[in-house]
Amino acid sequence: MKTPIHVAVLVGSLRKEAYSLKTAKALIAAAPKEYTFDIVPIGQLPLYNEDLDTAEPPATWAEFRKRIGKADALLFVTPEYNRSLPAALKNALDVGSRPYGQNMFSGKPGAVVSISIGAIGGFGANHHLRQSLVFLNVPLMQQPEVYIGEIQNRFTPEGQPQEAFSQYLGTVMQACVQWVGTILKK
Ligand SMILES: Cc1cc2nc3c(=O)[nH]c(=O)nc-3n(C[C@H](O)[C@H](O)[C@H](O)COP(=O)(O)O)c2cc1C
Repeated sequence: MKTPIHVAVLVGSLRKEAYSLKTAKALIAAAPKEYTFDIVPIGQLPLYNEDLDTAEPPATWAEFRKRIGKADALLFVTPEYNRSLPAALKNALDVGSRPYGQNMFSGKPGAVVSISIGAIGGFGANHHLRQSLVFLNVPLMQQPEVYIGEIQNRFTPEGQPQEAFSQYLGTVMQACVQWVGTILKK
């Protein structure tokens, strides 16, 4: 397997102080040194519109597609919005999957982490995201499923993950690494 293994990270929230972003950063911090990460911004992408998807698509779409294309693997960390995934993240999937036949996500191993301030841990977002990723041919880590509830209680006032949370994210990252290794070896 080639190293380093490069992972594109898509965070579903656009908020500067997003718990999902903090969680993504804590996961990245727990990764082995053979892994590199790119948190690819999604908030600047115009809503997908086939009329714009010409030989010269919006520059932000082209840049996004390039960054996803460079990745060996994918990590999604998202909050739940109204029992589904945030529109910005769905739009990023739409942009990265087109034009038809040029789905940049295809074949890259991935993992989904959902977070929420509620008790259910973003279950709805997690599975709606999985539904699209199945169609986009992303082989997804099945276990452990990662639904993180009461996320507001899992960081210190300085924004660092609390000890137990940090340890938990370490086990999640270990599982992700094993999964990526399994798929990329094939
Ligand atoms: C538009 C919107 C819809 C939301 N819907 C849900 C929901 O369906 N389930 C849930 O547990 N939390 C919901 N929340 C609360 C989020 O869990 C909370 O705002 C969380 O902090 C967002 O993630 P972030 O910190 O990464 O931005 C919603 C928040 C917003 C702004």
